[in-house]
Amino acid sequence: MRLPGLIDPHVHMREPGASHKEDWATGSAAALAGGFTQVLAMPNTHPAIVDEPSLGQAYQLAGKKARCDYGQYMGAGLDNVREVSTCAEKCVGLKLYLDQTYGPLRLDEMSDWLAHFKGWPKNRPLVVHAEGRTLAAAILMAAITDRSLHLAHVSTREEILLIRAAKKRGLKITCEVTPHHLFLTAGDLPGGRGEGRPRLQTQKDVNALWENLDVIDCFATDHAPHTWEEKKQTDSPPGFPGLETALPLFLTAVSEGRLRLDDLVPRLSSNTRRIFGVPVQPETWVEVDLDATASITAAMMFSKAGWTPFEGLQTRGVILKVVLRGISVFEDGQVLAPPGSGRLIRQDLV
Ligand code: NCD
Ligand code: ZN
Ligand code: ZN
Repeated sequence: MRLPGLIDPHVHMREPGASHKEDWATGSAAALAGGFTQVLAMPNTHPAIVDEPSLGQAYQLAGKKARCDYGQYMGAGLDNVREVSTCAEKCVGLKLYLDQTYGPLRLDEMSDWLAHFKGWPKNRPLVVHAEGRTLAAAILMAAITDRSLHLAHVSTREEILLIRAAKKRGLKITCEVTPHHLFLTAGDLPGGRGEGRPRLQTQKDVNALWENLDVIDCFATDHAPHTWEEKKQTDSPPGFPGLETALPLFLTAVSEGRLRLDDLVPRLSSNTRRIFGVPVQPETWVEVDLDATASITAAMMFSKAGWTPFEGLQTRGVILKVVLRGISVFEDGQVLAPPGSGRLIRQDLV
């Protein structure tokens, strides 16, 4: 059967600065192998994407190497409110890191958040990494400034219930959930392998996410590759690769009756398209065999991460082929699109 080309609004391509973890060529190959034809890249690179020159550098790298279509977020810093807002039409959104995670960007003072909530154009996507009570504070700030806000990687029962209440009140909140927070709990992965931000949570939290599916606007992989060398250390950096495993995991849930295709497809395409203003790609689709089975193994992946938190898992639902703008870009397990064939999601962005 055919699905639309999928959109991932939350990936880390690691360029510039950490191309030993991933680069645009490998990360976008992983995207296509996972059925994602459009990806939105986070700004927590080295250097971080916080001004016009660094945005230009990011687009130059992606333009040379990406095999799927792409867009780039900018990161909110202490003194770049004016700078990022002048670039608002050139990037896909502004990201605020309000809690500690991987990378150099973090805003501690609520007055600094407020400046960005006010300065960033109301019609452009604003995304926060905010956990627990920080998430509550971010929702309050969206209410105060009367603007839309997208909450990245929601992971707990208390968060999803708060979002339900905020939406009921009419606040312009949207949210995403990752496959690892839907399919794994804290006990599943020993040592550094299990490190992620937000952390993997309890079964009670996982159940609450599934029970409140109607509150979840979209699924995002938060593809955050770190190498196996890095992940096997006890002080491992947080993050999981996820582009290649997301759709097989979700299709397995469909085959088990835990999810309907009608619940799945909008959360990987049309809802995401609407929230982030991502254009439709003509003649673009993903062909899947819903009955074929496979097992997840790092060996068949394109990401430089070289490992997966889902190693050995049996899945039902296999990606046979991906077609982008009428051209087969993934078939029989091979990525066919060359580096540089991906396009900026909106040609008018630069
Ligand atoms: C992300 C990364 O490695 O860039 N890590 C993670 O655990 N999710 C950062 C982030 O998305 O918070
Ligand atoms: Zn995050
Ligand atoms: Zn992330």
